[in-house]
Amino acid sequence: MTANHGKVNRVVLIGAGSVGVSYAFSLINQGITEELAIIDLFADKALGDVWDLNHGKAFAPSPTNVWLGEYQDCKDADIVCICAGANQKPGETRLDLVEKNMKIFKGIVDDVMESGFDGIFLIATNPVDVLTQAVIEFSGFPAHRVVGSGTTLDSSRLRYKLGEYFDISPKAVHAYIVGEHGDTELPLWSRVTIGPVPLQTYLDNHDDYNAEDLDQIFEEVRDAAYHIIEKKGATFYGIAMSLARITEAILRNENIVLTTSSYLQGQYGAEDVCIGVPSIINRSGIREIIEVPMNEEEQEKFAHSVQTLKSIYEPAMK
Ligand code: 2OP
Repeated sequence: MTANHGKVNRVVLIGAGSVGVSYAFSLINQGITEELAIIDLFADKALGDVWDLNHGKAFAPSPTNVWLGEYQDCKDADIVCICAGANQKPGETRLDLVEKNMKIFKGIVDDVMESGFDGIFLIATNPVDVLTQAVIEFSGFPAHRVVGSGTTLDSSRLRYKLGEYFDISPKAVHAYIVGEHGDTELPLWSRVTIGPVPLQTYLDNHDDYNAEDLDQIFEEVRDAAYHIIEKKGATFYGIAMSLARITEAILRNENIVLTTSSYLQGQYGAEDVCIGVPSIINRSGIREIIEVPMNEEEQEKFAHSVQTLKSIYEPAMK
């Protein structure tokens, strides 16, 4: 059932690399959209993905019409998700990718805007915070209609790791990573709850857990991509599932809270930067940025993350 008054939902995916096709696979297996057009420079490979994805349709929970797309398909799209661009190689940071991906994005956004697209951009390519802000600039869209995956995946990683540590479902662990989707991100420990219980209370009531382990857990979350890239050359399932979750929240007008890369205009004392913060996501894109009270240490780390992103974005846009 669409939340779009009977109009079928259409997602256009630009970039059929590992992240893009994993995202497509997630959308189809979760029955999130009725239409999915896939655009890629290597059209032949993307056509192979379209065939391959369609061949499993008999087993999907609901029908998704998947085809090899062209930019004019963006005209009637609700969401254009950009996964195109270079990804990190071993030893590379996400910020190292800015120059090459900024050029790629300018061309893509121009082509999308040429179609008359007036939906919501969903950005995945790294450095995602910088590229999300670039898409706002390139498209001229209001900031709330350009959503970056931000630290949505990082928050999920933290929930998973804490769930493993406490032997509790990650769905019952409410935890948020904010800041750059990268080395300067930070956990909001002061806001973590295990079910309804603040983390510190839970630790105080359970002798076999201790706060030192939490630092280790955060490091594993922050550095997860580096470790995965060392093992298999790239990450794509976690980010794809995160993108699918954001897509679902938009198309179904869910008003859920995710730490997407959202454009700050004074919130958290910061201006003119896209960064991972708890945001209410619905059919309009980013309905509202939630300002979470932070302790002094969290405020300092967040401010450092903001400055790091600004120091990359401003020269890259010159
Ligand atoms: C990730 O964190 C590489 O940004 C990607 O998995």
